[in-house]
Amino acid sequence: VNRPRRPGRLAGLPLVWLLAGCAGEMSILDPTGPAARSQFWVWWAMLIVTVVVSLGVYALWLYTFRRRHQPQRTPREEQRVMLRWVLGGGVLLPVLSIVALLIFAAPTGRGMLPLPLATTDPERIEVIGHQWWWEVRYPGEEGEPDVVTANRLVMPAGEPVDFRVTSEDVIHAFWIPRLGGKRDMVPGRFSTIRLEADAPGVFGGQCAEFCGAQHTGMQLHVEALERDDYDAWLDERRAPRESIEKGDAARAFGEHCAACHRVAGFPDELVVDDTEHDIKGPDLSDIGSRPTLGAGVLPMEEGAIAYWLQFHQMLKPGNRMPPHNHIETETLQDIGAWLETLAP
Ligand code: CUA
Repeated sequence: VNRPRRPGRLAGLPLVWLLAGCAGEMSILDPTGPAARSQFWVWWAMLIVTVVVSLGVYALWLYTFRRRHQPQRTPREEQRVMLRWVLGGGVLLPVLSIVALLIFAAPTGRGMLPLPLATTDPERIEVIGHQWWWEVRYPGEEGEPDVVTANRLVMPAGEPVDFRVTSEDVIHAFWIPRLGGKRDMVPGRFSTIRLEADAPGVFGGQCAEFCGAQHTGMQLHVEALERDDYDAWLDERRAPRESIEKGDAARAFGEHCAACHRVAGFPDELVVDDTEHDIKGPDLSDIGSRPTLGAGVLPMEEGAIAYWLQFHQMLKPGNRMPPHNHIETETLQDIGAWLETLAP
């Protein structure tokens, strides 16, 4: 039906798009930590300076139309006026605005550096970038095992946390928009960024440096917990596993998966290491308790792991896990169901 279109109907659309960036778990305009708040004000300062400079340029451009009708100057005078505009508008103004922004923004960058704090010794969490997933390590105190997980970052709320970041392959970047960032993750080098969440909550994280085909499929689920809940979360994962069921599914996991994927407490005698590729896959010790699969590709629900095991190259094309065409569907389903039981 060709109804005459009211122009007002679609006029609101660009506005909706514009405002879509103002909220949500990935919005820098909805900061929830000191680093992100300070970046938020830098963002506004940059926007305001940019708008003012742009409006000034447009005004000058309009002014040139009027100037044509003014009485002509001599070429020498004309040259001097031009030079003044070029130096003032082309050199002085940019230098002044950039220096002003730099001075305004410097404390923001400083705030995210791990400078010693007088009052507290921040929690340290290691985050390692891989194509295309996140390894998260909670170093144990002496004698304690590290807790290792993937694509889910749990942190204490209301206190600063130092994230030591690096990469296993190419350059990635660590970024939790509502908490702050980013920090490049460079292979062979550890960098630290200090972030803090004001209160418990769930936030989105995203790799912020193009790192290959699945760069966008490199999402991080971030949860800030009360200190006590955080400690309990870690303790649960440090406790020795005794309940690992060692039936056929575990045997199949040992044969097909255990060469690349670690599971805490998995019996060594079941690990068949006949793989030729030496790429490390995510630690699966607590996979049954994670909120997503494939670094944010699928929500975790019943049957999701089996589905992922069968169709992961369609769900996340190019990911480093080889296709499982040589493994029977029933076996994959058994492995999937067994992995779902892996939770502290
Ligand atoms: Cu990792 Cu982009």
